[in-house]
Amino acid sequence: MAEPVILDVDTGVDDACALLLAALHPGLDLRAVTCVGGNAPLADVVRNTLTVLEACGADTVPVAAGASHPLLERPVDARHVHGDDGMADLGWPAPRRSVDARHAVELLRETIEAAADAGASVTVVPLAPMTNIALLARMYPESFARIGRIAFMGGGAMVSNATASAEFNVFHDPEATAVVLDASVDHEVPVTMYGLDVFYGPQVTLAEADELAALDDHGPGALAAGLVRFMSGRFRSDAMTIGDAGTVAMLIDPGAVRTERLPVRVELSGTWTRGRTIVDTRDWSGDMEHDPHGLAHAQVDVALEIDGPRVARLWLDTIKGVR
Ligand code: BDR
Ligand code: CA
Repeated sequence: MAEPVILDVDTGVDDACALLLAALHPGLDLRAVTCVGGNAPLADVVRNTLTVLEACGADTVPVAAGASHPLLERPVDARHVHGDDGMADLGWPAPRRSVDARHAVELLRETIEAAADAGASVTVVPLAPMTNIALLARMYPESFARIGRIAFMGGGAMVSNATASAEFNVFHDPEATAVVLDASVDHEVPVTMYGLDVFYGPQVTLAEADELAALDDHGPGALAAGLVRFMSGRFRSDAMTIGDAGTVAMLIDPGAVRTERLPVRVELSGTWTRGRTIVDTRDWSGDMEHDPHGLAHAQVDVALEIDGPRVARLWLDTIKGVR
């Protein structure tokens, strides 16, 4: 049976790559997509998300708008990376589909509850600042508790990008990430962290983008090719990471990623380190008596190694319809 998933996105070039994989791979059952301000302002994120799903023919997957701002701070977008429209400035026509009338938190709640009532459990896949998921945890803890698993893109054990300490999604809303990790402990929801340690592993080349471009005019192939070409151009490289899409690929092919269960905390107050994920890689069999911080309660399956070519191949084959 296909795994039921909900993606929470800030589309976003690499969120678009993730949506393509989730919408097109038969191993996943994309039940809903929720949007949050992050890489671009919320309205742009919603439009970009609808554009991707329309290109995939995923016309029945509901898309809802959620939080435009982080819990505490002002939004800081990443259009300098993702383009003025947040998704590679492709100049595609506006989507014909429209956004769901429900708030993202309501769509999350209803989708999780409907699946759980039917005996299935949904995997929630946050690929963006976790504001919507934190709001769900606070507004509807009983629904949060019915999530089967959370697999999120964010943080890093050793690598950062938005600041010298922090990865963008956690940096953008550190409190939200902390709320979600706490709630996962309280409600025993397993969490996997696909962070920057593995994020850059799966790369797609410009030559492969040419193959994708030949597939169709305004379908998944053309869209995927446009994303790869844009990001490669932006970083003056002949390849780009499929980024968030690796998180989705990990659900389909868990053997491509090595994870380790480790204690994780989020730094909320550091002068230079706010938003850092503190991944505790120490050997806990030693004497911890002298550590005033002790063990973090959240035990997270942290992705530490990836077979990048294998994951990139999965993404390419899915878009090409190769099984
Ligand atoms: C994350 O931040 C965004 O720029 C990407 O979409 C990804 O989710 C990487 O730090
Ligand atoms: Ca993202």
